[in-house]
Amino acid sequence: MSNIARHVAIIMDGNGRWATERGLKRVKGHERGAETVRTVTTFASNHPEIEVLTLYAFSTENWRRPKMEVDFLMRLLDNYLKNETKTYIKHQIRFETIGDLSRFSSALQRRIAAVKEETKGFKRLTQVLALNYGSQDEIARAAAQLCRSGEAISVETLGRRIESARFGPVDILIRTGGDQRLSNFLLWQSAYAELFFTPTLWPDFDPDELETIIAEFKTRTRRFGGI
Ligand code: IPE
Ligand code: IPE
Ligand code: MG
Repeated sequence: MSNIARHVAIIMDGNGRWATERGLKRVKGHERGAETVRTVTTFASNHPEIEVLTLYAFSTENWRRPKMEVDFLMRLLDNYLKNETKTYIKHQIRFETIGDLSRFSSALQRRIAAVKEETKGFKRLTQVLALNYGSQDEIARAAAQLCRSGEAISVETLGRRIESARFGPVDILIRTGGDQRLSNFLLWQSAYAELFFTPTLWPDFDPDELETIIAEFKTRTRRFGGI
């Protein structure tokens, strides 16, 4: 039986370089990157296997960027959610998030909650945006919860407490932009993910390339430790 691409996760990297290469400001790359989010999400919602698409949009480390860029990203996210609600509805996509939202403005938190509420019944695809997300932080918080509760620590109990683990193990993990690292993304769920690194910068990534990756994924032998 061939591999099923149930959960696809993407580290969307390379927006800044895409813009700089064109003599544009970095934020222009983020704008174009948001368009790629829409096309790739729509493609995934029409794909027969993909049930979950997790997209790394903002890491716990991205606060280190200049305030102007961080502010731009926050506005971009707010506008994206406002303008794309119709896309979520049209393609029956449930919107979800992972990460600590408490550091975002209350207006943005309300927007996020509203889109989740409006799309919670949809089942064609769950799009999970990783926002102020960091895997180590999340695993540490889950372990601390277990300690406080007095429960024994095991793969099962910890797995149940990790917030993002509710979307299940990652089948395909893609990083665009040419770097080959995980940058603190879904460390727990990617234990047996098939990894794909592409030099394509995120604004240039498209459904055709995702299809090529899925085709290669189908040819890989996943052993999960067996023979
Ligand atoms: C990824 O693109 C998007 C975010 C981290 C928000 P970058 O902004 O990291 O683009 P590069 O890596 O600098 O080209
Ligand atoms: C990873 O990209 C985070 C996101 C895509 C949101 P970064 O550009 O922040 O990662 P590093 O700093 O190159 O590892
Ligand atoms: Mg980057």
